[in-house]
Amino acid sequence: MSIPTRESIITQFRSTYGSPPSVVARAPGRVEFIGNHTDYNGGAVLGAAIDRYVWVAAATNPSGRLRLFSAGGQSVLELPADPGTRITGSDSWANYPLGVWRSLKDFGLRQPAGFDLFVESNLPAGAGLSSSAALELATALALLHLVDQADLPADRLAALGRHAENKYVGVPCGILDQGTSAFGRAGHLVHIDCRGPSFSRVPFPANAHLWIFNTREKHALIDGLYATRNKECLDAAKALGVAFLADLTPAQLPPLDKKLPPAQAKRAKHIIEEHARVHDTAEALQRGDLAMVGRLLTASHRSSQHLFENSTPALDQLVDLLEKHPAVLGARLTGGGFGGAVMALTKDSFTEKDAAGIARAYSAKHGREPEMIHLQAADGAKIET
Ligand code: GLA
Repeated sequence: MSIPTRESIITQFRSTYGSPPSVVARAPGRVEFIGNHTDYNGGAVLGAAIDRYVWVAAATNPSGRLRLFSAGGQSVLELPADPGTRITGSDSWANYPLGVWRSLKDFGLRQPAGFDLFVESNLPAGAGLSSSAALELATALALLHLVDQADLPADRLAALGRHAENKYVGVPCGILDQGTSAFGRAGHLVHIDCRGPSFSRVPFPANAHLWIFNTREKHALIDGLYATRNKECLDAAKALGVAFLADLTPAQLPPLDKKLPPAQAKRAKHIIEEHARVHDTAEALQRGDLAMVGRLLTASHRSSQHLFENSTPALDQLVDLLEKHPAVLGARLTGGGFGGAVMALTKDSFTEKDAAGIARAYSAKHGREPEMIHLQAADGAKIET
């Protein structure tokens, strides 16, 4: 697929709706560098916005209807201004733009009365690379532009996207995805202290690379496993008498965990140690200690595998293969888990040929090749001018 451009999006918008859009916005996907499920537990996380995007073009629609079209789709989806219920079935992707539109009102912002929207993406959906947050943020920027409010600060933009996902899509996610997509910068990781939340940036090491190996296994947070983990963590925090699990240090947990059912005790141990690993990773990045960063990434995966239990045999096998490769610093599942992709941090010497070797060894066992992507840390959501 050729990479969409502002011009190609405008052309497609025009052929869909008969006139040009007023705005084209673009928001990146993200990798979760480290900090697995720490965000809604009051912890820290490091993410990177990536050079794969969702584009949204929009124009006001004077009839007050909401019209949506996704490139590659069959037909324009036309909705009344307030369909009332959540959309199910093949059109359920419409809950994201619709949720954003509704959230504008919840945030005291102006809403366009009606709009035409065109969506295109080169971000693999369901890989755990946050196509949902990218769609939310690109939609939010485009709709805000239509009502002259596109100067909304990045932290509000991220909060708006998260609100849409929590309230109107129904996933109790934290701020990682929307925060990283909003605050991304080329050559940088985004550090989020999710309690505030507060956002900062850490330079991505010049001599390291990000690779994604997408298992193409189904990864759908809305299916309920994500919500189950979320509830286990919040219940554990309550039983331990803290607001968030990240309030505890690894040294404080051992006597307390006897108060928890075994599954919750494992989830709590993962979150508390993972929060500490994010801190250690940020420090190791600052010192330029890439070997330590790599070890922390792989340790994070093993904790997801054995304690948080949100990995799969396919993800584990990819990490096993990558861990043995001399040019791989570390590897871990990225995002919600239960399918999706593994992220690897590699040395300069890791080549396409090495990636293909990993893919071959993986497919010998799983029967299908993973999708491989060499990614760059990219800029955050913006209006395309
Ligand atoms: C998904 C959620 C995020 C975060 C990660 C796991 O990507 O949307 O908020 O919880 O899973 O770290």
